[in-house]
Amino acid sequence: MELAHLDYQAGRLVRSWTHLERQRGGFGFLGGPGETQIEADRRLIRDRMAKLRKELEQVTRTRSLHRARRQRAPWPVIALVGYTNAGKSTLFNLLTKADVMAENLLFATLDPTMREIALPGLDKAILSDTVGFISDLPTQLVAAFRATLEEVISADVIIHVRDISHPDSDAQRQDVEQVLQEIGAAGEGGAPLIEAWNKIDLLNGEEGERVQAEAQRREDVVLISALSGDNVDALLRCAAEKLRSGSRSRTIRLPASAGEAIAWLHANGEITGQNREGVETEFEVRLSDADWARFQTRYLSEA
Ligand code: GTP
Repeated sequence: MELAHLDYQAGRLVRSWTHLERQRGGFGFLGGPGETQIEADRRLIRDRMAKLRKELEQVTRTRSLHRARRQRAPWPVIALVGYTNAGKSTLFNLLTKADVMAENLLFATLDPTMREIALPGLDKAILSDTVGFISDLPTQLVAAFRATLEEVISADVIIHVRDISHPDSDAQRQDVEQVLQEIGAAGEGGAPLIEAWNKIDLLNGEEGERVQAEAQRREDVVLISALSGDNVDALLRCAAEKLRSGSRSRTIRLPASAGEAIAWLHANGEITGQNREGVETEFEVRLSDADWARFQTRYLSEA
């Protein structure tokens, strides 16, 4: 957010600069205190932006490392997404007891984090926190933003954290869903999605009852308070169920020449058996529905 703000400031300075020039009645670049100050300001802003860009690159690099590590240990990944301030960091901290900054700040989670968590009935899972979504994302940030969302695309379950007490909660949901669609993380072939309606502690009376009734009618909606921890265990059970139901053993026969496909299976699935028959090998591999769909698109569909 700071980057976008600085870009805006730089633009404004350019405008004031043009304005000053005009005021001077076309004498051109004569130098002088005003000019020097503006130049200095602009340089400072440019430097600050360069620094922020570097930080964004760092974030992207860190994520590639995370991914490389995960490919060696193929645990299911749960991605937390949500509008900014929805409570993702609070939930992430609660679930991982990690010391991640939870602040009432835009993009407090720009540096994305992943942690192992324990889920009921599952060996291990990785929880991935993402940057908060906002409306009308400044174009300068879109590229970096997308890079941080790569994790969401390959997640096995997506938890959409919503501030259900917010007056614009519905519009925020639409914004988030649109981004998920755009990056190909929602809809057909995408991971199953759970909506965590957060901050129920802020709702009471009629409004609270209305929300509660609506949540009950809807599948894949869990009411929680990330702050008090209320009902968070139900959310975890729901996520674990999604992961378990999708993951099943499949038989895949591949020729020895399909090195890339075999490597992919090793990285993304749990190979429980393999049987070599001539030039072909039959693999028994546990894959979630989403990964199975991904594998088929990538390696089994003829172009
Ligand atoms: P970004 O980093 O901007 O994406 O925000 P975030 O989604 O990570 O939100 P964060 O966890 O930082 O929470 C935002 C604010 O909401 C903080 O002040 C939290 O204390 C508060 N908050 C989070 N969960 C709850 C909740 O269940 N109830 C209440 N009352 N406040 C909450």
